[in-house]
This record gives sequence, structure tokens and C-alpha cells, in this order.
Amino acid sequence: MATSADPATIPDHVPADRVIDFDIFAPPGADRDYFAAWLALRDPAIPALAWTTANGGHWLPTRGDLVREIWGDAGRFSSESLAVVPGLGEVMEFIPLQLDPPEHKPFRNAVMRGFGNSHMVAMTPLVRAVTRELIAGLKPQGACEFMQSFAEIVPIHVFLTLIDVPVEDRARLRPLGQQLTRPDGSMTVTQLRDAADEYLRPYVEARLADPGDDLFSRILSVPIEGRAWTFSEAQRMCRNLLFGGLDTVVAMFGSIAAHLARNPDDQALLRADPAIIPAAADELMRRYPTVAVTRNLTCDVEMDGVTMKEGDLIYLASVLHNLDPASFEDPERVDFTRELNPVRHTTMGNGVHRCVGAGLARMEAIVFLEEWLSAMPEFRLDPDRPARMRAGNVGAFTELHLRWD
Ligand code: HEM
Repeated sequence: MATSADPATIPDHVPADRVIDFDIFAPPGADRDYFAAWLALRDPAIPALAWTTANGGHWLPTRGDLVREIWGDAGRFSSESLAVVPGLGEVMEFIPLQLDPPEHKPFRNAVMRGFGNSHMVAMTPLVRAVTRELIAGLKPQGACEFMQSFAEIVPIHVFLTLIDVPVEDRARLRPLGQQLTRPDGSMTVTQLRDAADEYLRPYVEARLADPGDDLFSRILSVPIEGRAWTFSEAQRMCRNLLFGGLDTVVAMFGSIAAHLARNPDDQALLRADPAIIPAAADELMRRYPTVAVTRNLTCDVEMDGVTMKEGDLIYLASVLHNLDPASFEDPERVDFTRELNPVRHTTMGNGVHRCVGAGLARMEAIVFLEEWLSAMPEFRLDPDRPARMRAGNVGAFTELHLRWD
């Protein structure tokens, strides 16, 4: 973890004892276990607020309380930059994610209206039907590669249903989803954004001109401070929903399935008492936080005895908050009876940008657990085909081979 970086590349305001070398895109061992790889930063020798020389250099709070506090402070820590990858923020221009308060608020309100609880409840039977159909197809096979045959498919179906487009569109959206979830380097980020925009354009235009009752229409019919959405704003918002709601849900399904495959006792618990499934979904989402985000400082900030400078980048990994023993007792243990307020953990973020799709994602997790556990016999990891993960802003399984009798 000690750095061999040339001291000349470390900014003057970064004290030498804060410097480490930790590549957020490739922590050692992340291809086998993304979560464990991050926990290497719990080493007491590593500062609570470190500066990593990797990826051009940025701050990296390693203690849970700091991660959560900074996440909740949108005034001093802006989400405009989007990522430590240079240029990504300028390409994506997400609404509402890359807007700071107060500009963020009217857009956020509109999006929240679109995701209203009653709409999510109304969606549940459709999510259940898709889930059931997929499981029915997989069950006789006795084995599957879970990510491609389940985790990547459900969020695309759900998204298409939300925006009320023909399910045949799946064929167009699937390759895009795959580039998003498992980028193979064949597309630049700009190409990926353009492909998403091209796919979304006809729907954005149609919903602006003639709103229906779908998600985009519901959001776009809420005025922004008394005026209509512009096409560009609408496109940036729809792009944010597409990019925000595929990769993340895919990762969530993978982590939940892997946990249950490794822990048959937990499968048995949930099969014996399906009433605890909602609490189990919350706990599994806390235990396996897959998202990490970037902020840029809007002013100089003193924290943990060090002064960070305006313009510095800082990376907030939810895993370092949720799995910090100072934040949650025995944090690596999955305990379905844990008293948990989902707003306390940071799987879905914290503060003004907290995930607008949190209710939808939770519903998808609950339906998955209910349907999979009631239809499938006990399942396990395939001992001959090791699971693989990848790190990144969304850490996820890339291969997860399951078997059942
Ligand atoms: C398990 C699944 C999901 C996880 C773990 C997740 C995680 C997150 C996190 C951590 C944030 C905060 C980002 C930040 O502070 O920089 C966020 C925001 C957001 N998420 Fe999700 N998300 C999930 C599902 C979804 C879904 C299904 C959608 C929509 C279809 C969605 C859309 C968004 C949007 C639009 C924002 C930005 C909100 C704002 O800036 O006000 N997410 N999500």
C-alpha cells in the first residue's frame, strides 16, 4: 500500500503521511472478492483521510464516518465531476446526479414524483412475471451463469416496462446494457452515451410532445420552476435513469445470489419464513454495497487535521462505510434480524442525491428472493467454475456459476 510515486506528482498541500497507492479500479484481489479487497484499507496504519497517487491522485476517506459525512455535504463536495476518470463528467452531464443544490432540487423533485411509491407498487406484478418466467426457464437446466442468464436481463425488462416501450426493444438495449455492465473496451464512453441517446431519442421526443402514464412522461410533465423541460434536459435525465438503473441492479442481484449460494443456512431461513424476506433484502443490500462515487471540492475544507483544496477530487466508497465496525456492529455478518434503517447505510448514497430508484431496486430484490427461493431447490456455487468479479464505480460479479440438483 505504501507508494512509490514520484513526490513531484503529489500536490504540495498533501502531507507525506497521508499518501498511499490504491487503485480504485483494481484493488488487489478484487477479481475474486471486491468487498474484501476494499477492506485492506481498514488497516490502522492507513490514515482516516488518505491521498492515493493512483488515477491522477485523489483523496480517499477510509473510515465510515468520514465517507458518510462527506456524502451528505453537497455544499462543499460537488457531484459535478461524476468520476475520477477525466472527461467522464463532461460526457455524461447527468440530471439530476451532476447538478448541485439549489439547481438540483426542481429536477430531483420531478424525478421523485415519477418514482412515487404507488407506481412502484403497481409495477410489482410485472416484475414478478418477468422473474418467474426466467426462473422457469432456468430451473430444468440444473445450473446457470447467473449474471448473463438472470441478473442482466431483469433490469432491462423493468426499465422497458417503466418507460412503456415494446419488450422487443430488449434486443437493442441488451448490447448497450452489456457495455455498461461489462465494458470490453470496444466502445468509448462517448460512443456509449451516443448509443444510449440514439436509443432514447424517439421516446424522449414522444413523451415531451404527448405525455402518457409511463415513467419519462410522469417526470417530464412536472414543470421545472414553472417552465417546461428543454429537450436537452430531458435527454440528460433519461440518460441518467438508464445508466443509473441497469448496472447497479445487475450488481445487486449478483451479490445477493452469491451470498445465498455460499450460505445454505440463510437460504433455509428465508424459505422457512418468507415474511422476513424484506428485512433480509435490506440487510443483504447493506452488507454488499457495490457503488462508489466521486466528489470535487467547491472550497478548501479542513477535515481530520488536513486541509483539502478546492478542486481536489475525493472518492467515496460505500463499502468503507457499511463494513466499518464503528458504523455497524460486526458489519461483515449478515443478520436478517439486525435493526436496520436503510437510510443509515450508504448503499444508496446519502443526502440530496440519495438514489431515486432505491424503492424500485428494493422491490426487485424482494421479488427475486421470493420467486427464486420458492421455485428453486437449494443452490450452490459451481466448484469447477470460480466466480469472478470486477472493481470500478460499480463493483460486480462478471461470472457467477450456480448449480442445483
Ligand atoms: C441496487 C441498485 C441501485 C444502487 C446500489 C444505486 C445506488 C445509487 C447511489 C449510491 C446513488 C448516489 C450517487 C451519488 O451520490 O453520487 C444513486 C443515485 C441515483 N440513482 Fe441509483 N442505485 C440503484 C438503482 C437505481 C435505479 C433502479 C434507478 C433508476 C431506474 C436509479 C437511478 C438513480 C438516479 C437518477 C440517481 C441520482 C439521484 C440524484 O442525483 O438526485 N438507481 N444510486
